[in-house]
Amino acid sequence: MADTQKSATLTIGDDSYDLPIHSPTAGPDVLDIRKLYGQAGVFTYDPGFTSTASCDSTITYIDGGQGVLLHRGYPIDQLAEKSHYLEVCYLLLYGVLPTAAQLEEFETTITLHTMLHEQMQNFFRGFRRDAHPMAIMVGVVGAMSAFYHDSTDISDEHQREIASHRLIAKMPTIAAWAYKYSIGQPFVYPRNDLDYASNFLRMCFAVPAEDYEVNPILSRAMDRIFTLHADHEQNASTSTVRLASSSGANPFACIAAGIACLWGPAHGGANQACLEMLKEIGSVDRIPEFIARAKDKDDPFRLMGFGHRVYKNFDPRATVMKQSADEVLELLGVENNPVLQVAKELEKQALEDPYFAEKKLFPNVDFYSGIILEAMGFPTSMFTPIFALSRTVGWISQWKEMIADPQNKIGRPRQLYLGETSRDYVDIEHR
Ligand code: CMC
Repeated sequence: MADTQKSATLTIGDDSYDLPIHSPTAGPDVLDIRKLYGQAGVFTYDPGFTSTASCDSTITYIDGGQGVLLHRGYPIDQLAEKSHYLEVCYLLLYGVLPTAAQLEEFETTITLHTMLHEQMQNFFRGFRRDAHPMAIMVGVVGAMSAFYHDSTDISDEHQREIASHRLIAKMPTIAAWAYKYSIGQPFVYPRNDLDYASNFLRMCFAVPAEDYEVNPILSRAMDRIFTLHADHEQNASTSTVRLASSSGANPFACIAAGIACLWGPAHGGANQACLEMLKEIGSVDRIPEFIARAKDKDDPFRLMGFGHRVYKNFDPRATVMKQSADEVLELLGVENNPVLQVAKELEKQALEDPYFAEKKLFPNVDFYSGIILEAMGFPTSMFTPIFALSRTVGWISQWKEMIADPQNKIGRPRQLYLGETSRDYVDIEHR
């Protein structure tokens, strides 16, 4: 942690307390309240962590006001344009861009871990066919701790490394198999001659009766979607992974917890909810009705794919995603896709509306991603699993950083208790 030179004084009644202030390399200063309870006997109150830094980290930085996202210092738009997912994985995990030799070795390692233990197929088969693929992913990833005992000892750096590689490598196989199972088709095994994104597309769309020729432009678009979702600092699912891990739980259990958290519609589930919303709107003339509903305080409806806790400007991922949507739909010959037309017009009308301007609500990463994924042939239920497989490297990088941090201790928030004070038990006949 950065050296403390500044401090703040907190006065409670007649007593004053000096609180150190840490200066980050970028972003707002951070008031250190770790000793506050011990010194002053008070807690701080911050539901939703709107003003709380839960850890220090060197992985990802977001400037929400400027719409900037950096991974290890590199802007996301440069990574999306010039890099590719496995290189970004290396960057997130190890902090530097790899040399050609390091990248080759890393890609080989990941490729050699893509198969699942054969017995895991039985685990998939235990689910109902109509199970949501996210439900299957939570279960199967959690079950990895029962299959890969040689990578669950978190005190062993080598085991942590193998667990990281296994999770990144096997997640596409797990997501693809969750999809195959849901549509009643045989599982397709990974192939080592394909790159990460092409392999995933093939495992989703090939069948034993007919192979699937991977279109390089679609594979590039898939890879870009993975890259854009790779990490996003201390969001809800990442914080869930860190909290689960703070107890010493094994990595597979922690990542399963992250997947469960991601599923919610306020987080990763927004991509599914957004496409469903765009389809429900259906045509451009119905947009004003939905904008009015989003603004109505008595209506729980929100514009999905809009707004963000941190971004108060354009989400830079949404900008790249919008370009990608245009490219993919043009390639597939569906430029006049009615859902894309509704999305673009909805974005335009919302951005011109004072409600969205005042609250600084802009399209987020989920606004356009569903349109691309649907055009590629994915059902809406696969959108969040694809987010989960992409985010696995972020969860893993943050998990590794946390375990290696000597300040790591079990996460244990306190509370503002507003319940009954102590009272005597009343026997049932007297209630
Ligand atoms: N539509 C209409 N109003 C909105 C929206 C929206 N999408 N988002 C926020 N608001 C309003 C909200 O009603 C509130 O108004 P007021 O101050 O009058 O009460 C104000 O804006 C602030 O909203 P908030 O809920 O206090 O903000 P938050 O930081 O807690 O929530 C959010 C952030 C992403 C959960 C929220 O914007 C939202 O629900 N968006 C839709 C879901 C979505 O697209 N989620 C994906 C996020 S990006 C990918 C990811 O993280 O997984």
